[in-house]
Amino acid sequence: MEKIINENKQGQSLTLDKKEGNTRKLFIESYGCQMNFSDSEIVASILNEQGYNTTQNLEEADLVLVNTCSIRDKAEQTVRKRLEKYNAVKQNQNPNMKVGVLGCMAERLKSKFLEEEKIVDLVVGPDAYKDLPNLLAEVEDGRDAINVILSKEETYGDIAPVRLNTNGVTAFVSITRGCDNMCTFCVVPFTRGRERSRDPQSIIEEINDLWNKGYKEVTLLGQNVDSFLWYGGGLKKDFEKASDMQKATAVNFAMLLDMCANAQPKMRFRFSTSNPQDFTMDVIEAMAKHRNICNYIHLPVQSGSNRILKEMNRLHTREEYFLLIDNIKRLIPDCAISQDMIAGFPTETEEDHQDTLSLMAYVKYDFGFMFAYSERPGTLAERKMEDDIPNAIKKRRLNEIIALQQEHSLMRTKQHIGKTEEVLIEKLSKRSDQHWSGRNTQNTVVVFPKGDYKVGDFVNVKITDCTSATLIGEAVGYSDNN
Ligand code: SAH
Ligand code: F3S
Repeated sequence: MEKIINENKQGQSLTLDKKEGNTRKLFIESYGCQMNFSDSEIVASILNEQGYNTTQNLEEADLVLVNTCSIRDKAEQTVRKRLEKYNAVKQNQNPNMKVGVLGCMAERLKSKFLEEEKIVDLVVGPDAYKDLPNLLAEVEDGRDAINVILSKEETYGDIAPVRLNTNGVTAFVSITRGCDNMCTFCVVPFTRGRERSRDPQSIIEEINDLWNKGYKEVTLLGQNVDSFLWYGGGLKKDFEKASDMQKATAVNFAMLLDMCANAQPKMRFRFSTSNPQDFTMDVIEAMAKHRNICNYIHLPVQSGSNRILKEMNRLHTREEYFLLIDNIKRLIPDCAISQDMIAGFPTETEEDHQDTLSLMAYVKYDFGFMFAYSERPGTLAERKMEDDIPNAIKKRRLNEIIALQQEHSLMRTKQHIGKTEEVLIEKLSKRSDQHWSGRNTQNTVVVFPKGDYKVGDFVNVKITDCTSATLIGEAVGYSDNN
């Protein structure tokens, strides 16, 4: 889905508007996918009602929460290191602080966490955040507390998330939770449970509220957004049994995109993540129809080999994927496409690896997120297959994939030179406080001198130069979207 961000870096610590009268201090940080960052906003909102305001300062926190990722072993190791850090702070500076683990690792390890990590007082899975007030009461009484029950219905649609660490311009809105796809390498179906879609009405309300607060861009989030389906809630399989009347009022992902784009015609919309097997033509058509749906699709493929795709339980072939790419480019010629790839899945041969490189050569992705296979406990691949590709080979193949992607990224960014493109200004450039940083519709970062523009403006920028990841340009005026 999700995009794995910040996994190797220190997780962002987050801030929110303070609620008056709140006296307790919450330090919350997130690792892993965008969904975790979005979930932390839900958690902060729930705790805001329980007397907690956030702090950036571990030393003064009454409660420390870490929202965790299990997607690869390295992600879990990062969290273990953070727990060591919390422990040191507790021993030396803040003896009364309580520590809780949220998210996928909490769900995967359950009560083992309380046994393995003495510092942990609280373990809460991704569907149990509404139980936090009760769990915290137990912790205050001196008992460890745990709730890792997964739900078939919970979407947190009724919770207005507080926005943490926000630029005030871009926000995430979650639309589905869980995943039913069961890719054999992936731990997500076990840690986030069954797939369920959120009430479209509550999505539109959240979007309208964001617009009224000055936000200009929303990314709709889900592990697998294309399988969004609402006819009143519940699981996809119930829909097949549903009456015609329910079907007549059903909303699928293409319809949801249409609703969002119409509800706020000047707001930009993105979505993540798409699984090729669930991506439909009507989504491409909705994108082509609405100027405010960005021309960018994150379309993970994982491998270019039909045999490996099958072993991964990815339910499409390489040829079907090419057809999808061709259809996207036909209807939206300037659409940017990005990938996720896994190098060294069990039994992967050199020939399979070459298939991955040749698939990349066909698509020439704008960017990508590439990983060496990491065996995850409990997944089908772990139970049925041996993790038989030596680390050195995984790494070499991964490096070849990364090198090829870098070539393609540079080729793609160069294609923007000389064009004038609409950019939404998000923040100061990392390199210079005299430059703004924003993104064009294709999700490429664009940097340009500030002029009189401000954060949140849509500006036309003439692109003059680039690296493989960033476009450099000069503003030529406001776009007509302001
Ligand atoms: N829902 C998304 C992916 C979620 S996980 C989809 O449709 O593909 C994000 C990415 O992490 C995946 O796309 C995959 O490339 C990578 N990933 C997941 N499990 C992994 C594992 N066991 N080892 C290495 N990479 C993995
Ligand atoms: Fe994981 Fe596949 Fe779902 S990668 S999140 S099981 S689409």
